[in-house]
Amino acid sequence: MKAADGRQVLHLQNVSKRFGGLYAVRDINLDVAHGERLGLIGPNGAGKTTLFNVITGDLRGTEGKISLFGQDVTKTAVRKRVARGLRRTYQKSSLFDSLTVGENLYLGVLGPQEGYLKRHYNIVLKAEKDGRRMDQAKEIATMVRLEKKFDWSSGLLSHGERRQLEIGLAMTLEPRLVMFDEPVSGLSPDERKMVVDMLESLPPDITLLLIEHDMHVALKVSQRVVVLHEGRIIREGTPAQISADAEVQRVYLGGTFNG
Ligand SMILES: Nc1ncnc2c1ncn2[C@@H]1O[C@H](COP(=O)(O)OP(=O)(O)O)[C@@H](O)[C@H]1O
Ligand SMILES: [Mg+2]
Repeated sequence: MKAADGRQVLHLQNVSKRFGGLYAVRDINLDVAHGERLGLIGPNGAGKTTLFNVITGDLRGTEGKISLFGQDVTKTAVRKRVARGLRRTYQKSSLFDSLTVGENLYLGVLGPQEGYLKRHYNIVLKAEKDGRRMDQAKEIATMVRLEKKFDWSSGLLSHGERRQLEIGLAMTLEPRLVMFDEPVSGLSPDERKMVVDMLESLPPDITLLLIEHDMHVALKVSQRVVVLHEGRIIREGTPAQISADAEVQRVYLGGTFNG
């Protein structure tokens, strides 16, 4: 599937990642178009997170070729991929609990080129804050629906609000492709609904790649779904096609996903 303007954001050609003798992902071919919402689903151990790590550059692929925004990045460092507009969230929390929501976002807006400042955040935050960057932090807080908690200590946020803030951090510095790794895992039904609503309302020109173990969430947010099983793509289709697919139901949750 291509977006109306046909611009390609991500292109994977025969991408594999092997750990010792085991292929965690194998021979992946995938194109993602500008503005697309692509869901990547599959049982635990299917290779979803490994594929994300190879796309970001956190792991070097064993074989294959990766292009990002039309340029080959197969051997490009993580920070250079980030500088081109690639972002991701991690399943593990990456927040400074002792800082406020606003301060966390402000540090995010300072960006990786000033990443050393994050290690000295006390000094940075005591200094007079840059008004334009503070405005950007406030815009992002509104985007992830935390504007009323801007001055709250992050340590006081609920699980769902922490997730919202983590998504906010991924939205700093004009991202073009954002990859979410299981954004609703461990959340209550109400918190899930909030995060799903938020994902659905992100700016349409930002391309989203969503790993989700919860198939209902993946099918709701995505326009197209790719199913990974034992490291390979076994199906690709619209949410309606994927939810009706007998093979997908068989490999996925023992066929109980409609229940
Ligand atoms: N760093 C690693 N070293 C060795 N094996 C790994 C490593 N990371 C993942 N694996 C293996 O690769 C497979 C895919 O894992 P993963 O990508 O985490 O799956 P998923 O995110 O779909 O649950 C699993 O068999 C896992 O044990
Ligand atoms: Mg995973």
